[in-house]
Amino acid sequence: MAKAQSFTCNECAATHSKWSGRCDDCGAWNSITQDVAISTGPAAKSLGAARGARVELSDLSTKEAPPPRTKSGIGELDRVLGGGLVPASAILVGGDPGIGKSTLLLQAAASFARAGLKAIYVSGEEAAAQVRMRAVRLELTDAPVKLATETNLRDILTTLEAEKPDIAIIDSIQTMWSDNVASAPGSVSQVRAAAHELTSFAKRRNMAVVLVGHVTKDGQIAGPRVIEHMVDTVLYFEGERGHQFRILRAVKNRFGPADEIGVFEMTGSGLGEVPNPSALFLSERDEPAPGSVVFAGIEGTRPVLVEFQALISPTPQSQPRRSVVGWDGSRLAMILAVLESRCGIPFTGLDVYLNVAGGLKVSEPAADLAVAAALLSAREDVALPADTVVFGEISLSGALRPVGQTENRLKEARKLGFSQAIVPTRSKIGSDDGQQVRQMSNLISFVGEIFGAG
Ligand code: TYD
Ligand code: MG
Repeated sequence: MAKAQSFTCNECAATHSKWSGRCDDCGAWNSITQDVAISTGPAAKSLGAARGARVELSDLSTKEAPPPRTKSGIGELDRVLGGGLVPASAILVGGDPGIGKSTLLLQAAASFARAGLKAIYVSGEEAAAQVRMRAVRLELTDAPVKLATETNLRDILTTLEAEKPDIAIIDSIQTMWSDNVASAPGSVSQVRAAAHELTSFAKRRNMAVVLVGHVTKDGQIAGPRVIEHMVDTVLYFEGERGHQFRILRAVKNRFGPADEIGVFEMTGSGLGEVPNPSALFLSERDEPAPGSVVFAGIEGTRPVLVEFQALISPTPQSQPRRSVVGWDGSRLAMILAVLESRCGIPFTGLDVYLNVAGGLKVSEPAADLAVAAALLSAREDVALPADTVVFGEISLSGALRPVGQTENRLKEARKLGFSQAIVPTRSKIGSDDGQQVRQMSNLISFVGEIFGAG
């Protein structure tokens, strides 16, 4: 039986069942090529194809020591990397344009250079004078970092081969172009090819490589997602424009915990570390106000307190607004539905705005109860006591489910002066140290006890 053929677009990676001159998905011309399968065994012989060699197999036990790491001395960065830089690792740092990636990586390059590594910073976006000006502003001019401004991948690889650095920073991968690939710099095939060349060079030559990738909204140039699978570590640099907080988040890390965050503050002279993020996220908090609830969360290995703010206002629109910043929109819809169906508290005819103060993005379901509390507090116009933290997962039945690391959350809250907590029943609570912890089994009793309704 004839095998089904498949064709792939080299621009957008869409697959097609037949060849055509133009890709239906991205509109590129002459970009579609047939996929060829690798044959093995007797069939390979009859087709005249070369047979592969047998690959050596080994077992799982290892006597190798964990990889040695170099600390940059920037604690928040080392934490996100899983305890420092691993030699020959490939790291992707993604983020919106202007968020501070170049600033962070110039500071990192300088710190690694000061720690004794040979560091090369390749800028494909800015002129050498611009990078030097930034270095002056960041007070890094004395650090032994070597700078290149180049976008030709072949020349960059030749230079790296001759210089043999311990770490190379490529800012940004979207400006690099390989003359092996016909399409324009920034296209999916160029970005993929450049990332592949650089990461395999890094493994071969025992050099760590950091690729900077701009997150793009309009798809004109390929975003960092298309190369996430090629690298060992994927870090995203997040933050709200207009806020000075920046969060570096590990979304993938072969050498450390994923979901670890590092918190920075953008100042006039570069990014400063924020070793105690809870204090920072709560620093703008005023008097207890309706709609404001403090959530004791866990980000990576560290507890972090953040404030959830809700605003509810009547609307004449038939489709009320559901606007969320820093939390998942569909999770909000679920909590509104549970409040409505299980507790009889409707939100029809009401616009709902939910915001995580400080620009942090929270993804834990443990924040469910804090969200529900913020929504109720805004709706009923009743403020929770200022020294209360809330956490717990809400199930569709309205039951409250205990979450992991209860003790760490409570401890962090105590440290910051929160003497009361509301948590699900069956939570593992240790010594209370004078903290008043109220345990509740479902949302109905929570509504009744805290807001006297329901
Ligand atoms: P940049 O690192 O160039 O962002 P990216 O590489 O992600 O595009 O940072 C850009 C912004 O940071 C810019 O708006 C200016 C601001 N900034 C400061 O506030 N302080 C500083 O010390 C530096 C270097 C930049
Ligand atoms: Mg930049």
